[in-house]
Amino acid sequence: MEVIDLGKALCVITGASRGFGYCLALHLSTLLKSGSILVLIARSEGKLRELQAEIRSSGVTEETLKIKNVAADLGKKEGVQEVVRVLTETETSSFNHMLLINNAASLGDISKFVVNLTDLEEVDQYFSFNFSSALCLTASLLKHFGKRSGLKRTVVNISSLCALKPFKSWSLYCSSKAARNMLFQVLAEEDPDIRVLNYAPGPLDTEMQVAARSQSGDPELRETYARLHESGQLISCSQSTSKLVHLLLKDQFKSGCHIDFYDV
Ligand SMILES: NC(=O)c1ccc[n+]([C@@H]2O[C@H](COP(=O)([O-])OP(=O)(O)OC[C@H]3O[C@@H](n4cnc5c(N)ncnc54)[C@H](OP(=O)(O)O)[C@@H]3O)[C@@H](O)[C@H]2O)c1
Repeated sequence: MEVIDLGKALCVITGASRGFGYCLALHLSTLLKSGSILVLIARSEGKLRELQAEIRSSGVTEETLKIKNVAADLGKKEGVQEVVRVLTETETSSFNHMLLINNAASLGDISKFVVNLTDLEEVDQYFSFNFSSALCLTASLLKHFGKRSGLKRTVVNISSLCALKPFKSWSLYCSSKAARNMLFQVLAEEDPDIRVLNYAPGPLDTEMQVAARSQSGDPELRETYARLHESGQLISCSQSTSKLVHLLLKDQFKSGCHIDFYDV
């Protein structure tokens, strides 16, 4: 039987203010059953408000879906604490699905080759946001939503080809994506009750791509991304969102696996 919704869920999306996270939030909001809560996280409060208004204007009413915006910097301890506070004050018993999408990420300073990354603070700050916050958020939410009969728990890591393949001048980004992939593979091994997916969304037409083609220290990489853009080969967020949603609804992926946009 075809599954057509994601259940009565607490659905949490980081990096929802633009790009892939924004698009995913719009799509998922239509697939959550009445009584669900959608939690949208990013630093830009105004953009989260715009997203909320767009969800409402698409016909998703307050009676069906409660939306909580959390404007927080996940690169800062207080930001992560605030998000955890909001999430863990939610009662858990009425939900049959907890769905966390770890989407927020940044490229870091991609003008720098490895030999230029001498500043410990810069590196720590990068990993704090791109790795540690995803880990602590996931752990806190899983602790709050403990294993219970009738409760499905799904954790998605928005990954990248960079988790598997090295790209010159992108050492921070590649390392954090590789580390996140491994983290979520370990989680899948540790708890078979949790559905874990590493999804690489493909080269998306977002602000991150603008930085990729203009700021990469490696000239070949800059050119590759410029060519992808000029030849119209970038993927739209809605195309990639549809594939991820299909994977989530079908729910047949091997927990902990890495699936790329081009694999589906
Ligand atoms: N674009 C691509 O080609 C591509 C390819 C493969 C994988 N990906 C992955 O796909 C995901 C989405 O990428 P995207 O292209 O949509 O990126 P994007 O356009 O740069 O959006 C990043 C999102 O993360 C949020 N964010 C950034 N720093 C934050 C912080 N310190 N605290 C909280 N939120 C923060 C941003 O919101 P605020 O600025 O409002 O905080 C924004 O909502 C990322 O994991 C990325 O690595 C992207």
